[in-house]
Amino acid sequence: MSSDTVERLLADLTRAEKVQLTHGAADTDGTATGFVPAIERLDIPGVRFTDGPLGVRTDEPATAFPASMALAASFDPGLARELGQTLGREANARNQDVLLGPGLNLVRVPHCGRNFEYYSEDPVVTGRFAASVVDGIESEGVVATPKHFVANNQETARASVSAEVDERVLRELYLPGFRDAVDAGAGAVMSSYNRVNGTFASEHRHLLTEVLKDEWGFEGVVMSDWFGTESVVGTANGGLDLQMPGISGKELFESMSMGDDVPDGEETDEEGTGDEAMEMDPDAVDYADGMPDPTTGGLYREELADAVESGEVPESRLDDMARRYLSVLDEHGLLDGGRNDEGAIDTPEHRELAERVAVRGTALLENDGVLPLADDADVALVGPNVDQAITGGGGSSETTPFTQTTPIEGITDRADGAVSVAHGVPRIEDVSLFDAFEDDGAEAVDGGDQSADDEPEVSIDEAVAAAEDADVAVVFVRDAATEAADRESIALPGEQDELVEAVAAANDRTVVVANTSGPVETPWRDDVAALLSCWYPGQAHGDAAGAVLYGDSDPGGRLPVTFAPEGEYPANTERRFPGVDGEVHYEEGLLVGYRHFDATDAEPTYPFGHGHSYTTFEYSDAEAIDDATVELTVENTGDRPGREVVQAYVDSPAAPDDLDRPPRELGGFVALSLDPGESRRVAVALDERAFGRYDESGGWTVDAGEHVVSLGRSSRDRRLDVAVDR
Ligand code: BGC
Repeated sequence: MSSDTVERLLADLTRAEKVQLTHGAADTDGTATGFVPAIERLDIPGVRFTDGPLGVRTDEPATAFPASMALAASFDPGLARELGQTLGREANARNQDVLLGPGLNLVRVPHCGRNFEYYSEDPVVTGRFAASVVDGIESEGVVATPKHFVANNQETARASVSAEVDERVLRELYLPGFRDAVDAGAGAVMSSYNRVNGTFASEHRHLLTEVLKDEWGFEGVVMSDWFGTESVVGTANGGLDLQMPGISGKELFESMSMGDDVPDGEETDEEGTGDEAMEMDPDAVDYADGMPDPTTGGLYREELADAVESGEVPESRLDDMARRYLSVLDEHGLLDGGRNDEGAIDTPEHRELAERVAVRGTALLENDGVLPLADDADVALVGPNVDQAITGGGGSSETTPFTQTTPIEGITDRADGAVSVAHGVPRIEDVSLFDAFEDDGAEAVDGGDQSADDEPEVSIDEAVAAAEDADVAVVFVRDAATEAADRESIALPGEQDELVEAVAAANDRTVVVANTSGPVETPWRDDVAALLSCWYPGQAHGDAAGAVLYGDSDPGGRLPVTFAPEGEYPANTERRFPGVDGEVHYEEGLLVGYRHFDATDAEPTYPFGHGHSYTTFEYSDAEAIDDATVELTVENTGDRPGREVVQAYVDSPAAPDDLDRPPRELGGFVALSLDPGESRRVAVALDERAFGRYDESGGWTVDAGEHVVSLGRSSRDRRLDVAVDR
């Protein structure tokens, strides 16, 4: 909402100054991912933008939180709010005003390279987490930027591909998370690189102006993704308000990566930061058109004023762009002398939160009773990367932590028995969008890499020998994912499947800990005694793994994505992924994730929502309280404290005209901790959209009749039904 201050400033600004507020420039401090300079004569401050969802990415360390998917696996939006607030505090401590997150694209393709930055295949889970993180970030006076709007569900050809997706599917699956994030008070939204039904998202008038601004009432700033602007007139008239980074890739690179290191008076090209630094090594990562054109960054700087002068972009649109930008600054207290919150970074509370999220997001997929481990068990600790904490995936979300614990450290600290270590197979190297630039002088950001020189000698035999001698074998396996490239498959890379099989054959008390960016294939699952999915756990990797393996904490996680063999997901034709002739066809419609497996009666390996506890729970006495709330009693019937996640799935009556609906849709969920023998009455609030369907003429419609709400522990383990009449 525009204030008197904003209107006064608008009246004082020249057109050139207004244009200056519509695009970024080189950061004078060299700390930010994006920067919009001050207009000093009017006391409008410079504004700094920083990535990203997993931690604050500047040139200095910050807390490296678990991947967003790990957060979602907690099914605990309260935890997400705490995380958002902590990110806000760390952004303040680093003098950053805008946080480029949360990422909330739906998991449509199981091996999308950025799934670790996203939450779920389900829009209700996505929306609740996005809204909570936004609320937390904004509560610290930092601007949250939900991204990437919208239908950016793959990295292959992300800069050009057109998502061919109909309005109903957009409304029911891909847009709700953004709506929730906007309703939670996000000050900005980032448009995606891709096209939607042929039009670039950054110039999509229907989506940016008609839906986001006019229909949803979004009064904040729509910013482009970095170099994600293909036109000036098209984007400005489509509804884009801020072009980022507003400078070329070369200028951005110079402003960020060398900063103080560029000696005075020396040509930057000689330091490897000039033109040739922007030349990417095509062999470093197979980006397959995942990279935008870095020369397009300065379009608004160069051409927007001319377009306004010629009338191609109305003056009123430029005013609207400037008004939105100033209003966001005003609402975040940035127009009255700038920030005064010093924030906090790397505090004991932040470290504890990083560990708590990793623990709560850990999903126990199999357990024949081997877990929790006995304190005095002799452990063979196996895995190619057990000496490395997985602090995240590659790309703009990379965060360099102050501290980290590796699986070796976490397990050795916790174990009373002997711990022997065997890598077994060659290390799985991190991959990163930034690898392509490394030879040209930029530093690797991911910190955990080891050079080939300290690569240990490894063999599966050595791992087998260690497993044979131990009471229990714990095998850590992982994948490697980055922004700008999709994973080749969801199988574990390298020889890790062979390693697990060999170790499991040598010791029937073999536990596998999977650290992956999303779903993973587990061909050996029937041969192992337990399987934990811990995603990318962040800086507390080792401590969190130790806490769960030894039962200090119940594994609180449930799967926010279905695990299945790769070919069984719906995006399994070339047209559906990666697309043909520049178009990816969302022909599966609404049947994404568990909706697909339910509709086709296909058996997932591990269903959406699945995860065991170290204790057992019983559900009873379910009833509908009103037409959007059900209640039930949950009892911990085991002998350990534990965390349960009650899930409510809505099966709506048939829609008229044979309109297909998914068999059931998650309406809500509640996570709770219970002591042994404790029971509690809990209410599950149901999302209205789970009852409804969207049609282009009538908008959202709830069909009259009996909607059956099933309460259960996963999409396939439904225990009680309640009828809700609408
Ligand atoms: C990513 C965004 C990120 C931006 C700035 C882009 O490559 O897609 O998510 O915020 O870079 O680093």
